Amino acid sequence: MTRKLFVKTYGCQMNVYDSARMADVLAPLGYGPAERAEDADMVILNTCHIREKASEKVFSELGRLKRLKTARDDGMIIAVAGCVAQAEGEEILRRAPFVDIVLGPQTYHRLPEMVAQASRAGGSVLDTDFPAEPKFDHLPDARADGPAAFLSVQEGCDKFCTFCVVPYTRGAEYSRPRAAILDEARRLVDQGVVEITLLGQNVNGWHGDQGGLAHLIRGLAGIDGLERIRYTTSHPMDMDEALIAVHAEVDKLMPFLHLPVQSGSDRILAAMNRRHDRDDYLRLAERLKAVRPDLALSSDFIVGFPGETDADFADTLALVREVGFVQTYSFKYSARPGTPAAAMPDQVPEPVKEARLAALQALLQAQTETFNRACVGRTMPVLLDRPGRHAGQMLGRSPYMQPVHVDAAAHLAGKVVRLTVTAVHPNSLAAVPAAEGSPR
Ligand code: SAH
Ligand code: SF4
Ligand code: F3S
Repeated sequence: MTRKLFVKTYGCQMNVYDSARMADVLAPLGYGPAERAEDADMVILNTCHIREKASEKVFSELGRLKRLKTARDDGMIIAVAGCVAQAEGEEILRRAPFVDIVLGPQTYHRLPEMVAQASRAGGSVLDTDFPAEPKFDHLPDARADGPAAFLSVQEGCDKFCTFCVVPYTRGAEYSRPRAAILDEARRLVDQGVVEITLLGQNVNGWHGDQGGLAHLIRGLAGIDGLERIRYTTSHPMDMDEALIAVHAEVDKLMPFLHLPVQSGSDRILAAMNRRHDRDDYLRLAERLKAVRPDLALSSDFIVGFPGETDADFADTLALVREVGFVQTYSFKYSARPGTPAAAMPDQVPEPVKEARLAALQALLQAQTETFNRACVGRTMPVLLDRPGRHAGQMLGRSPYMQPVHVDAAAHLAGKVVRLTVTAVHPNSLAAVPAAEGSPR
């Protein structure tokens, strides 16, 4: 019997990876993919707790699912997974008793038992343990979905930035063993994957028996058929010499690094418990660009952290001007229950946050546009991973994650091709195949 599964994913790339793995775990039970919740026998919401808005979405989506479930007489299993489930499991069951399963990010290898239990008992199942045996030891092989894949290598966080829920929702830092990671990478490459993005909440905090992330990246670079490597998200404090050096040595490592700084003010960085100051970050950016001159940086920012003054915010703008980022995510500070910053005095009023966010985003947007325009005329390797909007068109990703479209034959799908950028569109670059012998 085939049943249909619909997974809706919120939040970060680790949740995207987890959603795919939940589908892998349920496949042996006969669950195949559904296009929409309306067609599904089981719906999983894989949730994010990072900001208030993210968590609220879950309850409104649950309202919609309740109506779907009631309208059907053949039953529907509703599961809530991820970080909201971890943080507010009991609350979900109280507010939405029609939910059958609530599971945290560390227990989804047990989904088959939970599904059996939910179908049998009729009641709800709650599993938000942090099991001693990591889930990775119990998952089936990952199935590739296209030429670019995510691979979780590290989970959890011990940094305790004062604004952040992740240390509570994902638990303590854990590094998967190197052999298991290389094994998963090889299997992905055997299925046609050419680009792997290593994932972790603190991916550059990954460590094995014989070294850190630099050692792992060198190992991955030795896999034939794997052409591009990325890693995200990194904490500035864990960017050690070896990892900086790998950017110079390993060609397969893309010259693009997501290295969130959050703020440019020393006072705010200290209050955030980021464990570095603005000068540390500026020097780090310099060292990276010194070993790999074509490297571009991206970052996350928070505006309106408690106590942030106009002068602090001006420091953030100044740092942005100094570093130059090509892609960014910026957010208004959102007070999260249980985090130290939520209890700090001098919470910043909403209109001030809004004005700062608008000013910061205008500057960041201008930097992104300047970078995109500077790419016109450049030839770069692009991984063509999807069909484009028009017939005969393909979409791909540049080394800097810019979407690039090109008129290309479908047989190039899944390949890295050299393209010359010809124009900048609002959300993508246009390119043509590079002439023979053109420089990088
Ligand atoms: N581990 C990563 C970030 C994970 S959360 C790091 O250390 O950078 C992703 C982003 O969400 C953060 O970089 C931060 O910019 C933002 N964020 C986290 N908590 C937030 C909060 N309470 N309010 C607003 N933005 C927040
Ligand atoms: Fe959150 Fe800080 Fe950990 Fe990143 S490093 S996940 S921002 S606590
Ligand atoms: Fe959100 Fe959890 Fe990721 S809170 S950002 S889904 S680690």
